[in-house]
Amino acid sequence: MNTIDRRRFLGVGAVGAGVALTGGLAPARPARREAHEGDGHRGPCVISSGNGVRACDRAWERMQAGADPAAAVVEGVGIVEADENDMSVGYGGLPNELGVVQLDASVMHGPSHKAGAVACIENIKHPAAVALKVLTDTDHVLLVGEGAKRFAIQHGFPEENLLTEKARNAWLRWKRNASPEDDWLDSDQGIELKGQQQGAAGEIPFTYGTIHCGAVDGDGDLGATTTTSGLSYKIPGRVGDSPIIGAGMYVDNEVGSAGATGRGEAVIQSCGSFMAVRFMEQGMTPTEACLAVLRHIDSRTKRKDLRDAQNRPNFNVAMYALRKDGAYGGAVLRGGVNFSVRDTTGPARHLKCAAVHA
Ligand code: GLY
Repeated sequence: MNTIDRRRFLGVGAVGAGVALTGGLAPARPARREAHEGDGHRGPCVISSGNGVRACDRAWERMQAGADPAAAVVEGVGIVEADENDMSVGYGGLPNELGVVQLDASVMHGPSHKAGAVACIENIKHPAAVALKVLTDTDHVLLVGEGAKRFAIQHGFPEENLLTEKARNAWLRWKRNASPEDDWLDSDQGIELKGQQQGAAGEIPFTYGTIHCGAVDGDGDLGATTTTSGLSYKIPGRVGDSPIIGAGMYVDNEVGSAGATGRGEAVIQSCGSFMAVRFMEQGMTPTEACLAVLRHIDSRTKRKDLRDAQNRPNFNVAMYALRKDGAYGGAVLRGGVNFSVRDTTGPARHLKCAAVHA
């Protein structure tokens, strides 16, 4: 494994660097450092969001077989992209307001510092793999919409209908309940016909959900990806943080990687993943870096409609970070969220994210 710059990770001179890099915006590191599981881990590691246990194991196996971390994480998240039961990613993802599934994804390769991404891509089940093609086969970083789809088809990705019955029914229920002023009858007003099953009752599924996966191999080389169907029922053309390099995902092979899930608009406006990697460079542990980004997002959430009665953000964002030496962590704005990890101690498992607000 590459030698780790201990001075950097132990934070020698970190406070001064923090002020210089962020114009004085860097939150002060706590005087007494709280320990988090993952701080002390060293060596190869894969981390992911809570929905990424299988992704971690697959990426780990691929790395063990010699795959590049960037290719390994893309293969890992491919399992979830193909899973119709995960309504936040790929096939089975919740559609936009027109009932069309539009996907976003990005990937970054540490050793070359090259990124690839696609946004608003339709009818292609594996956007992270298309993003990897953008990374490996073009001089570009981000392809969108029709151009991204054409590029995928040119590279042999099949065109498929991604809207499952379950997701279409959820969208129809959302549409019927979206406004009292349109001509759709709300679920409780609809005309019931004898012998005909009405749409499922209960909460209409809604998600900002996403999968992030980052990996470091035994050489200290990193790769990361984030892939999503984005905000449910979004305005067509809306792009979240996932395909934005530095927002939904970022890798600096000299430092580490980071990724985000949750409300993309908040992450974009704070360049969340880029900031987390810079915080690690300044000496924060991965968990501290994630928490510092989330506190920044909290403090920059100015709109009153985005805050609850206790003045906390009324949305959630989770951040995940992995350092070059194998230390890792995850944190969330509002508690009760897990992240996934596959480390040198055994098969992938869930760990609780540190939380800014309980
Ligand atoms: N984080 C996913 C999105 O906001 O689209």
